[in-house]
Amino acid sequence: MLSISAKPKFYGRRQCRRIRKAKTSLLESFLPQIEINENTSFNKETLFGTPVAQVCLEIGFGNGEHLAGQALSHPQTGFIGAEVFKNGIANLLTLITGIKEGSRLPETFCLLPGRTDNIRVFGDDVRLLFERIPDGFLDKIYVLFPDPWPKKRHASRRFINPDNLREIARILKPGGILRIATDHKVYKSWTLRQLHDHPDFRWTAHCGDDWKHPPADWVETKYQRKAIAEGRRPVFLEFERIK
Ligand SMILES: C[S@@+](CC[C@H](N)C(=O)[O-])C[C@H]1O[C@@H](n2cnc3c(N)ncnc32)[C@H](O)[C@@H]1O
Repeated sequence: MLSISAKPKFYGRRQCRRIRKAKTSLLESFLPQIEINENTSFNKETLFGTPVAQVCLEIGFGNGEHLAGQALSHPQTGFIGAEVFKNGIANLLTLITGIKEGSRLPETFCLLPGRTDNIRVFGDDVRLLFERIPDGFLDKIYVLFPDPWPKKRHASRRFINPDNLREIARILKPGGILRIATDHKVYKSWTLRQLHDHPDFRWTAHCGDDWKHPPADWVETKYQRKAIAEGRRPVFLEFERIK
């Protein structure tokens, strides 16, 4: 682990409004059951409730809709979600347990019926997790609607950057996929430039149009709904980790 002094600077929000009773209980009592901590070992046999052949990572899962949806549709795959924003982590826990404000709080929390134990949560900056993930461990990485930091003077804060791409390339297996969505013009051009300049990735687009349409297994996110409601059109970019 990085020492505290080496902790990278994080510019987003860690918490906004007060977290109410049910979500606080979920954070205190259920999160530790599925949380990645300093003792977690990255072993596909033991990391999740059952052994998995494939593992995906979602970076900045926000309110968790996409992570919860993908994990439900792919019960044999393990999903790691990294998110700094505490309210978002609490929302993910609500989605996967069904416990909402006003629900009677059980003595022991468990997943909703029909869900497998295939989600693990890292509740901090994903850059602190990167160095613990073995080379080629991941099949897919999702970075959906990263904060765009559109001003030029904030460009160094953009998540898609050479340092993070180097780590992403290392932890993705050859042939693995990096999926990025954005609704911001500046971030779209920035991302294409960063990936074009990186020797380990190939853009998988087949025609000029396919980046305008969500992939077949897409799960809509809160940020995406907000972008569309405000008149911005998201793009969906996929890059393959070259062998
Ligand atoms: C604009 S929001 C998008 C959230 C979600 N993906 C969606 O589409 O609704 C970006 C999210 O990324 C998270 N984030 C930004 N940098 C991060 C990092 N280094 N590690 C973990 N999460 C991060 C933020 O806390 C925020 O929730």
